[in-house]
Amino acid sequence: MCQSSRGALIVIEGLDRAGKSTQHARLCQNLESQGHRVNRMRFPDRTTSIGKSIDAYLKGESEQEDHVVHLLFSANRWEAATSIRAAIEEGITVVIDRYYYSGIVYSAAKGRKDLSLQWAREPEIGLPRPDICLYLDISTEEQAKRGGFGNEKYETSAMQERVRELFYKLQLLPDGQDIQVIDAGGNVAGVEKDIMERVEQMMADTRLAEDLRNIL
Ligand code: TYD
Ligand code: MG
Repeated sequence: MCQSSRGALIVIEGLDRAGKSTQHARLCQNLESQGHRVNRMRFPDRTTSIGKSIDAYLKGESEQEDHVVHLLFSANRWEAATSIRAAIEEGITVVIDRYYYSGIVYSAAKGRKDLSLQWAREPEIGLPRPDICLYLDISTEEQAKRGGFGNEKYETSAMQERVRELFYKLQLLPDGQDIQVIDAGGNVAGVEKDIMERVEQMMADTRLAEDLRNIL
């Protein structure tokens, strides 16, 4: 059987306190221990100059018009798009903590008529499409149990409620094809295993599709 030469693009999404960072780290380690070369990424990438403006906005140190900040988050992905593509083509698996799904949902959650999910989706068109987006789902109750939010712009329960609703709505739209919902309310090891199984299944499906293309 022909081994897949392309790396996978894997995204982890979810609300605050869903355990994204922990699961992101574990998934990267697990893939590496299986012999995959892995690039870890996260958005926003606060290290670039665009990322620094986003950071100041999230910390309340600067004001930005809502459409402007949306476009900054999007531009922060576009500035990484070439390197994401290059890594994948080189056979490296790229694992990202938050991507355009957060981008679309958080901006639309502001509830402005002139900033719909559809409007928010437009600047993201053409970014590398993930092979899988794992959405870590936790209930409002579980989220509350896990302790308080931080002090950043979107860390309020009203905002998180709207974000939760829009993440569900997004699953019914075309982007929903890429999203798999993970019950992240359980223990860390159980969630880790669930994620690994989904990723392995996706990789097996991708290899099968590639083999078929090579035969036909
Ligand atoms: P992040 O730095 O990932 O923090 P954490 O995962 O610890 O919450 O994200 C910061 C905030 O930015 C978070 O509230 C989600 C929001 N966000 C957007 O509004 N748009 C985007 O495109 C992205 C990637 C994040
Ligand atoms: Mg946060």
